[in-house]
Amino acid sequence: MLGAQWGDEGKGKVVDLFSEKFSIVARYQGGHNAGHTVFIGDRKFVLKLIPSGILRPGVQAVIGNGVVIDPAALLDEMDSLHGAGIDVAKQLVISNRAHVIFPFHRIVEKMSEARADRVPIGTTSRGIGPCYEDKTGRRGIRIADLYNREAFCAMYSALAEDKQLLAQTFNIQDTIDYEQIRDQYLKFADCIRPMVCDTAQLLNDAIRQGKRVLFEGAQGSMLDVDHGTYPFVTSSSATAGGACTGAGVPPSAINGVIGVSKAYTTRVGSGPFPTELSGVEGERIRKAGNEYGAVTGRPRRCGWFDVPLLRYTAMVNGFDGLVITKLDVLDEFDEIQVCTAYRNASSMPATYRELEAVEPVYETLPGWKSETRGLTRADALPLRARDYLKFLSDHTGVEIGCISTGPERDETILIQGSKLTALL
Ligand code: IMP
Repeated sequence: MLGAQWGDEGKGKVVDLFSEKFSIVARYQGGHNAGHTVFIGDRKFVLKLIPSGILRPGVQAVIGNGVVIDPAALLDEMDSLHGAGIDVAKQLVISNRAHVIFPFHRIVEKMSEARADRVPIGTTSRGIGPCYEDKTGRRGIRIADLYNREAFCAMYSALAEDKQLLAQTFNIQDTIDYEQIRDQYLKFADCIRPMVCDTAQLLNDAIRQGKRVLFEGAQGSMLDVDHGTYPFVTSSSATAGGACTGAGVPPSAINGVIGVSKAYTTRVGSGPFPTELSGVEGERIRKAGNEYGAVTGRPRRCGWFDVPLLRYTAMVNGFDGLVITKLDVLDEFDEIQVCTAYRNASSMPATYRELEAVEPVYETLPGWKSETRGLTRADALPLRARDYLKFLSDHTGVEIGCISTGPERDETILIQGSKLTALL
């Protein structure tokens, strides 16, 4: 299950809901740049690194090899879940092949974002990109390395030296205490040791035993490093293929792909956004949908539903079904617009410059002007809301199998007989 737009589609709630039907929920990419908000009763959980499945007692939560881990952020999150009565130590496992984020990754990111000759990406400042750079540059440090003290210290010194050289080159006042960080990370390693294992082995064994695994994407397809709006993307594979490389399972083990999309579109950070609404209409969606980043608190950019974008992400992911979230945010609108085509582009442009230049073609649909919040049955939806959903499904070519009508688990409509519900 993964985001069909630019992230923040509401995957956390949906994964939490569906995880009831699975033995394992696994994350396969990204890090604590993600923010999955889940409401259970009057309790609010914001999960950044740990899969939302952790909120279901008995469900195993896996942090796969494709994830990058900031141990301080991980321990913080573990503490707060533990405080909420969740048996984290029992439910969570962490890949020994996942790469480790160090504080100097954040400094490198800051440096890169501030450079006059570079387009700032508007990152979450969590050190995600620089950690993946070290991974791909084959100098990164993985969780397993933390348990060989001598090897770790040597790798760490080499990496630290790289970063110090970089800081000197760019005339950055580097105040990092490298030795203290190294010792702190060895302590972190001790804290998580019982949870660390070969998660690819664990997942493949579980699949062979007939256990059901839900792979939980972070960010969204348009932030994928290959298929997204490059360079305004995150540094990992947020599309469906990422589940195989980021968890170590073969494509043949995956029997369905579910996309999650809002009933409109949002984006945080910079980059092209063809259907973005500036001014009062954008502000109206932002207010109604409380569109502020779960991790950074930044106001999200808001706009209408974009069919060409969805058709594109449906193509690269092969969606078997769609979950439409936050339908209720559109309850008060007299009219709702949907972008059905880009006038001057027949396929998704490769460059952000071209995507910035597309002219969206809109169709206007009447609003339903009544409350859909909390509805649990499709036949209870106002006719115009049903027409709107049918319009989205007809134009994107993907069947809608689930509609979220509010943040709570039970504020959900499941379309019985859909491909999506058959996957659950
Ligand atoms: P990074 O992942 O921090 O490197 O940020 C790269 C881009 O991805 C920025 O535009 C971020 O705002 C965006 N981004 C990263 N994580 C998320 C997320 O979980 N939701 C939405 N946008 C995200």
